[in-house]
Amino acid sequence: MDNAAPLGKDLLGIKELKRDDILQILETASAFKEVLERDIKKVPTLRGKTMVNLFFEPSTRTRMSFELAGKRLSMDVINVSIQLSSVVKGETLLDTIRTMEAYGADIVVIRHSSSGVPHLLAGNVNASVINAGDGFNEHPTQALLDLFTIRRMKGRLEGLEVAIVGDIAHSRVARSNIYAMGKLGMNIRLVGPPTLIPAGIETLPGVKVFHRMEDGLAGADVVMQLRVQKERQDSWFFPTISEYAKLYILNSKRLALAKDDAIVMHPGPINRGIEISSDVADGTRSMILDQVANGLAVRMAVLYLLSGARA
Ligand code: CP
Repeated sequence: MDNAAPLGKDLLGIKELKRDDILQILETASAFKEVLERDIKKVPTLRGKTMVNLFFEPSTRTRMSFELAGKRLSMDVINVSIQLSSVVKGETLLDTIRTMEAYGADIVVIRHSSSGVPHLLAGNVNASVINAGDGFNEHPTQALLDLFTIRRMKGRLEGLEVAIVGDIAHSRVARSNIYAMGKLGMNIRLVGPPTLIPAGIETLPGVKVFHRMEDGLAGADVVMQLRVQKERQDSWFFPTISEYAKLYILNSKRLALAKDDAIVMHPGPINRGIEISSDVADGTRSMILDQVANGLAVRMAVLYLLSGARA
């Protein structure tokens, strides 16, 4: 890891990364995965560096794994509780982060409901900014951990058939994965009702659109179900949840249409009985908890490589 070429100052989205940047993050994550399998899982690599977690939207996996990734690398980690911070008194986001910088923050991890907030901040602060999910735009570390998981299970990425099923329109996870998989030569099948598939998305590299799940899943290597994001829909894009579930839930009967060794993925949190049945979510082909575990190694890699850029 000593000779790793640094990424840029920030990680704002997969769109901005080159294919080689993505591969470098995956390679570095493999090295950290080995560290995490040791008895002593902590390394002194980033001792003296400070990371701030600033989550304006709820999170379990991303926030906890960034916190743990920083601690495993011996960073000082501050988790800001937005509701207990001076943000509620009207302090601007930029002033909040400049306050963090005055304490010596090197890296700020931010999740926000508005697309583009991490980009705006990155141009105005010295700290490295990591996008932990911005509105409908991107969730780059989720896509990186998804790719890492697929590569560990399949031994390759190029040429794989990946079905991404559900609410593509509101999914920053889907958007980051589409960018990443297109750069890596993967074949991407987007499956969902026309109201949840953005117009023109089939023009992106590697993308094909399907509206029937049976068509999209046939012969797939990977089936990635997306969460129905109730909190992001001003009005419903399908008549009822039960009708959506009838057409797009991944159950064992539908999974049988994919390859025999196809793996099942979901970024979490899952809506059991809506986009995925419990027997599939908890079954032997489910990678859901592997994705969670791999997120730690991937986020350690991102923190390490961005710190290299600051050195
Ligand atoms: N996948 C994901 O981003 O989960 P959290 O919202 O729990 O962080």
